[in-house]
Amino acid sequence: MAHEVGASTSYLDPKLAKQYLSEYKTSDGLSAEELMDLRVNGGLTYNDFLILPGHIDFSASEVCCESRITRNIVLKTPFMSSPMDTVTETDMAINMALLGGVGVIHHNCSADEQAEMVRKVKKFENGFIPDPVCLTPTHTVADVHRIKAQFGYSGIPITANGKLYSLLLGIVTARDIQFHEDHTTLLRDVMTTDLVVAHEGVTLEEANQILRSSKRGKLPIVNSRGELVSLLARSDLLKNLNFPLASKSLHSNQLLCAAAIGTHSDDRVRLQKLVDAGLDIVVLDSSQGDSIYQIEMIKYIKKNYGDRLDIIAGNVVTREQAASLIEAGADALRVGMGSGSICITQEVMAVGRPQGTAVYKVSEFAQKFNIPVIADGGIQNVGHITKALALGASAVMMGGLLAGTAESPGDYFYHDGQRLKRYRGMGSIDAMERICNVRDAPDNAGIKRYFSESDAIKVAQGVAGAVIDKGSIRKFVPYLISGLQHGMQDIGIKNLTQLKENVKSGKVRFELRTAAAQVEGGVHGLYS
Ligand code: IMP
Repeated sequence: MAHEVGASTSYLDPKLAKQYLSEYKTSDGLSAEELMDLRVNGGLTYNDFLILPGHIDFSASEVCCESRITRNIVLKTPFMSSPMDTVTETDMAINMALLGGVGVIHHNCSADEQAEMVRKVKKFENGFIPDPVCLTPTHTVADVHRIKAQFGYSGIPITANGKLYSLLLGIVTARDIQFHEDHTTLLRDVMTTDLVVAHEGVTLEEANQILRSSKRGKLPIVNSRGELVSLLARSDLLKNLNFPLASKSLHSNQLLCAAAIGTHSDDRVRLQKLVDAGLDIVVLDSSQGDSIYQIEMIKYIKKNYGDRLDIIAGNVVTREQAASLIEAGADALRVGMGSGSICITQEVMAVGRPQGTAVYKVSEFAQKFNIPVIADGGIQNVGHITKALALGASAVMMGGLLAGTAESPGDYFYHDGQRLKRYRGMGSIDAMERICNVRDAPDNAGIKRYFSESDAIKVAQGVAGAVIDKGSIRKFVPYLISGLQHGMQDIGIKNLTQLKENVKSGKVRFELRTAAAQVEGGVHGLYS
């Protein structure tokens, strides 16, 4: 006899649904340990798995993203920018720190240039432009037009040698050159010399007041010798400059700054210059970090700088590599080999590890010694950030995701109607050629991460390309924070400590993602 729909009496009481869960031997999905069982699943990347949703009883804005990224340093947001010459220089480092993360200044330049970038980050004061474009009196009106076209502003200080920390002689504004059809006119003939200035040490509030009462667009700040030290722009004052998440040094109110160095003997000289400039975190930049050179460098830094400087050592992808660097004294480990978007290390060197597995295996080991792990490379979207943190990382380091922003070094250019910026691996031939062309930078060290100076034939481990304009990180990083908060909310987790604990205890569950599931999870089936 056919059953009537709904007539069966063999169903359980819905009120007992939760209680009934105990009938199953395990929770739905896999624990992180089961997911990362190499014998069963092999090495996994971020796209190879998903995190299963948990129970939500709080809003996304309640999720706290604070994280300890080295033995002594806690950030409000777990984001770092890569030490690459198309990603992190002064502007990126300042803005990453303002937004709660930290930028790692690259070392593909002379030690003095790198130290100068660190100094500018440390000296940055909210509202003041630390690195204004300057010209000399013998530049021309055409130069001002060029700068206006390139950067969009035309209030340019004129100094004796066209640089900062040189005698301030005047200022050229849009009004000064408005009626000069002759673009060859020298700036000394058009610049305003009747200057309103403020003196070094002036507070933002005082400077703001001077700007307002003088009705000028720009206020140069000078030292006791009359040299230009920074600039204040009225247009910036109008923006509400408030950065509650800003990363500050442990012992001062200055922005936090990190920089990369190599492990050669001349890097010790470089490091001293960086420390003199106020460095907080040093990143030992090697693609294969488990070397006697790095171990000796860690010991040298600990002996000579003690706890003044936290060391992020790496890169590593195995427990054994991690053990060497932890034992030597590393304050954090940078994890990733071959996962970077511009990286060809795995193909060329046959060495590396899928990033998800690398982050999990090293974090699981390093956590026992209370050493944080930074997941470096391969972060293509905000979901990857949540996954890296769920696998045990305390922060993510991003190159490609932050390249192409207004704060990354380099100029925008157009190709096929797209606004682009260059992005290149530090082990690319392109990056190497920059070194050879920089005459004034004999101690230039960035490429030592990939090439030894004695190498007669260079084997590239990276490529050069371009990425699309992403706008300013002042909008992009808040988007990443918000995305992370929503991801954590979906997992049912309120902060990163809880995430680590619940992953470890097996409460947070994972699922493998087949190739078809990855297609299903992406956008599909649309006509356009
Ligand atoms: P992305 O965020 O996926 O673009 O990866 C950035 C990371 O790639 C950096 O932080 C470095 O660890 C790594 N990297 C930078 N340059 C190279 C290279 O030339 N070859 C291999 N890896 C690189």
